[in-house]
Amino acid sequence: MQKHIVANWKMYKTIEEARQFIVELEPALTSCEAKVLVAVPSTALWNAAKQAVKMPVHIGAQNIDFHTEGAFTGEISAGMVKDAGAEFVIVGHSERRKFFHESSEIVNLKAKAALSAGLTALVCIGETGEERLADAVEATLKSQLLESLSTLSIDQLSSVILAYEPVWAIGTGVAATSKDVYSAHLLCRQIVAGHWGPDAASKLPILYGGSVKSDNARELLETPEVDGLLVGSASLSVDSFSKILLSQQVLNFS
Ligand code: PGA
Repeated sequence: MQKHIVANWKMYKTIEEARQFIVELEPALTSCEAKVLVAVPSTALWNAAKQAVKMPVHIGAQNIDFHTEGAFTGEISAGMVKDAGAEFVIVGHSERRKFFHESSEIVNLKAKAALSAGLTALVCIGETGEERLADAVEATLKSQLLESLSTLSIDQLSSVILAYEPVWAIGTGVAATSKDVYSAHLLCRQIVAGHWGPDAASKLPILYGGSVKSDNARELLETPEVDGLLVGSASLSVDSFSKILLSQQVLNFS
């Protein structure tokens, strides 16, 4: 399957900074064989999506509300981000689970709202450091994955990207080892196969995220069961994100 490399800019970049980044990323994009996606702040969506037309990069949002419309001051619907040019949306990121108290039940509603609006849903799951210490990685991933996705049909699952992001690896500079990433991804694939069947499981892109940098991207991309990367802080500079895209290119030629 084609590798996916996703930038998650979080609450960084103005409209102009986003535009400039996309312009400067073009050389890396043209030589990269991965599918490249950039999740921009909502305010930059419309302009970034316009900028990215005819470029091999897909622009998306970082969050949506699950209602179609209504009196929900400050919220933005899936249809609205789609209207602004988004092709995908991140749902269930651990920062939203932690700071905005989003349960897997909410993540499920958001994933369904995204799919109904014609967006790809990039659904994140991952255990905390405490859960890992308590030997609860398997139980956590299983409950998050099934509670977030089990109501989806096989057809709907074909518009989902899953990201395994151990919470303890996000923003810490300490990525999971390739052995831990492999076993978590294999587990996710088995859970998906158990619920939707092996064919759907083999087609589901499963990305790794958590302190991905230009110096570990290649090893992570080479790890079996890893279909791509979700990159936070190292996606904020054109230089480091381009190097990550280039590690995919090196992989294809090696
Ligand atoms: P990080 O963030 O690469 O800065 O660890 C990843 C993420 O939160 O998606």
